[in-house]
Amino acid sequence: MTIHIGANAGDIAETVLLPGDPYRAKWAAENFLEDAKLVNEVRGMLAFTGTYNGNPVTIHGSGMGMPSLSIYVNELIRDYEAKTLIRIGSCGGMQDHVGLRDVILAMTASSLSTPSRGIFKELNFAPCADWSLLRAAVAAAESKGTNTHVGGIYSSDVFYDERPDLNEQMVRHGILGVEMEAAELYNLAARHSIRALAVLTVSDHLGTGEALPSDQREKSFGDMVEIALEAAFA
Ligand code: HPA
Repeated sequence: MTIHIGANAGDIAETVLLPGDPYRAKWAAENFLEDAKLVNEVRGMLAFTGTYNGNPVTIHGSGMGMPSLSIYVNELIRDYEAKTLIRIGSCGGMQDHVGLRDVILAMTASSLSTPSRGIFKELNFAPCADWSLLRAAVAAAESKGTNTHVGGIYSSDVFYDERPDLNEQMVRHGILGVEMEAAELYNLAARHSIRALAVLTVSDHLGTGEALPSDQREKSFGDMVEIALEAAFA
């Protein structure tokens, strides 16, 4: 047990999928894992451990935003020895060619700030995905025929953004989408020499203002979960 995770030692697999929403962790575990068991519910942050094609996997909610994700990922790495961490989440599309339901594989994650800012000081560290996971996720997405984009994303600290000029610069520099967690996941993975990737489904679009109705989310979110699981065990 840790301060924020009630699981016993050995209850968490080396491979952990991290949706922001704890109920999405439950949904993904029920639909994609065999023998899934609840292993954490401290603060309602549900986590389940089961198997995928015989491989042990934990699906653990991360909460919204980098400070929340940082707490869980630190404890998963330090206390439960997680070695492969894959964020599965939604993002806002930023380029015209990125459509609703498309999947984005985040090669890099730009940010204004992260919880690691204090240790990096003046350094502009470039958080990036693990290459072996990224390559395997591209292959999995191609074999599923999912409309997929690979490139840079923006990890924002705010959902309700008051700086449209920043989004303009992100769009101008080819950033594919915006979410709120990946940059710190990549920072922590680099610091602890483990593998990380963010697999994201486009749930809304900043340019067009479109958003996926909740009843249409499941199928595209399912593609994202399968791509993450296939990549983890490629
Ligand atoms: N902004 C930030 N995070 C998000 C968004 C968004 O538009 N959509 C899904 N996650």
